[in-house]
Amino acid sequence: MTANSEKTTLVLGGTGKTGRRVAERLTERGLPIRVGSRSGSPPFDWEDRSTWAPALDGVAAVYLTYYPDIAVPGAVEATRSFAELAIRSGAPRLALLSGRGEPEAERAEKAVRETGARLTILRSTWFMQNFSEDYMLDHVLRGQIRLPRGDVPTPFLDADDIADVAVEALTDDRHVGELYELTGPRALTLAEVAAEIAAATGREVDYVPVSLEQHAAEAAQYGAPAEVIELLTYLFSEVVDGRNAGTTDGVRRALGREPRDFADFAREVSASGAWDGSAAHR
Ligand SMILES: NC(=O)c1ccc[n+]([C@@H]2O[C@H](COP(=O)([O-])OP(=O)(O)OC[C@H]3O[C@@H](n4cnc5c(N)ncnc54)[C@H](OP(=O)(O)O)[C@@H]3O)[C@@H](O)[C@H]2O)c1
Repeated sequence: MTANSEKTTLVLGGTGKTGRRVAERLTERGLPIRVGSRSGSPPFDWEDRSTWAPALDGVAAVYLTYYPDIAVPGAVEATRSFAELAIRSGAPRLALLSGRGEPEAERAEKAVRETGARLTILRSTWFMQNFSEDYMLDHVLRGQIRLPRGDVPTPFLDADDIADVAVEALTDDRHVGELYELTGPRALTLAEVAAEIAAATGREVDYVPVSLEQHAAEAAQYGAPAEVIELLTYLFSEVVDGRNAGTTDGVRRALGREPRDFADFAREVSASGAWDGSAAHR
């Protein structure tokens, strides 16, 4: 069953929202890992191709997550080139984290598939952890989720579920060739997200609808880099249009169990202190 049990798995973004969880799970199973990120050893940087081969040295499998986003210009070419190099380096087993409902992400999936890699695709909706470990945390801490398109329901997915699927994919050959479209069990509007967080924390958290322009201006005011604002504006304007509102059976198909609900996620994050500003949770 375990094709790569003794050899190292390279976990790209291994300190990020899903990668950190994948690295923890593989380590708990006693499987060797290498974190592939700028702070890894050796360092891995998508922007510096001279770092790719050293990171792949002695590696048999890769959790492939592109940064900053698989839908940005350059991602198709970079993920294709990386996958080709991985195969040449003796790591043909790849689990690719992709984005749901994004034509650019599907082009990257196709490019990686065409390399002949022994591939599993995790095509995921938005993560719940964007509200606890990424830019939406600041909105929660300020008590106002000020984002555009909040009336469009999104079936947010727990990064722990993604990590469980990724680890299964990387350790069990029956997932080779599978494409798992992954969502949580229930689509929520941002007003419903705010209500869940308020219920879990006992704090006042509201959703405040803002235009795309207002959101971009406020993000800049809070110091978000221009490329991040550009990416968010693209996602909110092009992708958040209801096409991703439906739920899927991807987690059940991959793991034989249901994905975790937002209310359970919210209770756990609240208990960790991340939403009262007292914990370093990012
Ligand atoms: N967030 C979502 O809701 C969502 C949904 C679906 C799909 N995705 C996909 O998930 C992928 C990761 O997105 P994320 O938002 O979850 O980010 P993330 O994994 O939390 O991103 C942070 C990770 O990327 C590493 N990193 C940053 N710059 C890097 C660089 N130049 N080269 C190599 N590694 C770098 C960071 O480590 P260092 O700082 O040490 O480099 C860290 O490990 C993207 O491809 C995105 O399209 C995200």
